[in-house]
Amino acid sequence: MWQHYFQPQTLPDALALLREHAGQCRIVAGATDLLVELSRGIRPAPVLVDITNIGSLNYLRAESGVIRLGALATHNDVLASAACRAGALPLVQACAEVGAPQIRARATVVGNLVTASPANDTIAPLLALGAELALAGEAGERVVPLDEFYTGVRRTQLLPGEIVREISFPALGAKQRGIFRKLGLRRAQAISVVNLGIVLTLGEDGVVESARIALGSVAPTVVRASAAEEFLAGRALDEAACAEAGRLAAAAARPIDDLRGSAQYRLATVAALVAESLAQLRAGQPPLPWDGEPVLLESGERRAGSGERGAESGERRAGSGTSRAEVINTAINGVPHVLEGAAGKTLLDALRDDVGLTGSKLGCGEGECGACTVWIDGRAAMACLVPAPQAGGASITTIEGLSREGDRLQATGNSGGADEVLSPLQRAFIERGAVQCGYCIPGMLMAGAALLREHLQPSRAQIQQAISGNICRCTGYRKIVEAIEAAADEG
Ligand SMILES: Cc1cc2nc3c(=O)[nH]c(=O)nc-3n(C[C@H](O)[C@H](O)[C@H](O)COP(=O)(O)OP(=O)(O)OC[C@H]3O[C@@H](n4cnc5c(N)ncnc54)[C@H](O)[C@@H]3O)c2cc1C
Ligand code: FES
Ligand code: FES
Repeated sequence: MWQHYFQPQTLPDALALLREHAGQCRIVAGATDLLVELSRGIRPAPVLVDITNIGSLNYLRAESGVIRLGALATHNDVLASAACRAGALPLVQACAEVGAPQIRARATVVGNLVTASPANDTIAPLLALGAELALAGEAGERVVPLDEFYTGVRRTQLLPGEIVREISFPALGAKQRGIFRKLGLRRAQAISVVNLGIVLTLGEDGVVESARIALGSVAPTVVRASAAEEFLAGRALDEAACAEAGRLAAAAARPIDDLRGSAQYRLATVAALVAESLAQLRAGQPPLPWDGEPVLLESGERRAGSGERGAESGERRAGSGTSRAEVINTAINGVPHVLEGAAGKTLLDALRDDVGLTGSKLGCGEGECGACTVWIDGRAAMACLVPAPQAGGASITTIEGLSREGDRLQATGNSGGADEVLSPLQRAFIERGAVQCGYCIPGMLMAGAALLREHLQPSRAQIQQAISGNICRCTGYRKIVEAIEAAADEG
């Protein structure tokens, strides 16, 4: 899908590569949009510039009332961030709705903004929060309000040679409340039929001082509902005001008919969703979109503490030295591997074709089914959406290595043959009859095992969340859920 893959360690090096390969390169972050586009032949490019080794872009922090997300901050980073939970609830709610845990663990918020689909989920909440973007180029940096960033369907102000370095926005203050709502055709892995972000500033008497309302998936770009915003300013949020604001918001929409819904349906839905969301805000700040702790499918140290990330902890592959990936030095299931000739492949293809580990399955090839789920440095990922060079310097775990991973997944068999050694979760799947044709099972196990490393006693809702990116055509899921519960009980 590409010929040359570069992994610069610094922003200036990345910008120089963009200049050198102008017109024939694309930037890679989490690759969840990029690899789907490249596999479909959309905006093909022979050169990829991977920015994920640039530690200075890898942060999420709050300073002086401003929340800052570096270019490598993922949706999971937002969910794990105490600052975002306290001061950016609409963004947290949106990130919780993006794809599935394996997507959120790798996909960046900046990537979501740059792809610029009007249905992308983080745009409306960030517009409502008043975000701006720092765009870095070789000549310097410019700051663009998100309100001015979009110029058409999947078109932005970003110039060739520029990198979005940072998203920033003021944290919600004591007088502010915000909400994100999404209507999709299912509860995970769903493109928005309609979404919205609202931030209200309220006076002590409950009167609206100002409102910001942004609507997604109803026009060529995400749009502000200006007439509704103006109408609300200075008004009490009674039922009539909520309904009228909904009606005025729908007037800002210019929806189309598509596979997911008709224009007429979207118009009616926008009006109702805005009115309902305003009524929710009148009642108070909505709760977090999960009970307890979120399901991230990321084990270990990176999540300790408040969840905030600084650049220093973001050094992912420090010292890998080479910026042009030709030979990939990696560790797979604890065994060092040097992969030659795999730099132009996905990690899934490299594992199956070059390493001979065929346990990870190719289902959809587009991040939708989860059959290819592996762990990269303990984070669950869809291997079909990972460029193989991103395995460089990383520790990869596949289904073949599951029984050797971690305390909770120690081998329980007593045979010397590695093939016969099963983890407690694998045994539970067999004992509970959670396997039929078996094609989805490696991915289910990798997602389930990642959950059990993160949550020792997950709730049923957390189990459902953990496997929401994994599709099974045979079992009906009930026995899979029960098997994960049984493995958790076994401890
Ligand atoms: C199965 C699946 C489900 C999904 N579900 C949802 C969903 O529910 N809601 C939703 O909104 N999205 C969804 N997405 C889309 C996608 O996951 C998000 O848009 C994601 O946030 C993109 O981030 P990324 O880091 O993977 O970007 P990449 O794929 O690496 O890049 C995306 C684009 O941005 C460019 N880019 C990346 N970083 C920068 C930068 N710093 N500066 C300039 N350009 C940059 C790339 O060149 C590319 O054009 C889904 C995708 C898949 C595959
Ligand atoms: S998600 Fe990778 S093959 Fe379906
Ligand atoms: S067991 Fe057949 S797809 Fe899940």
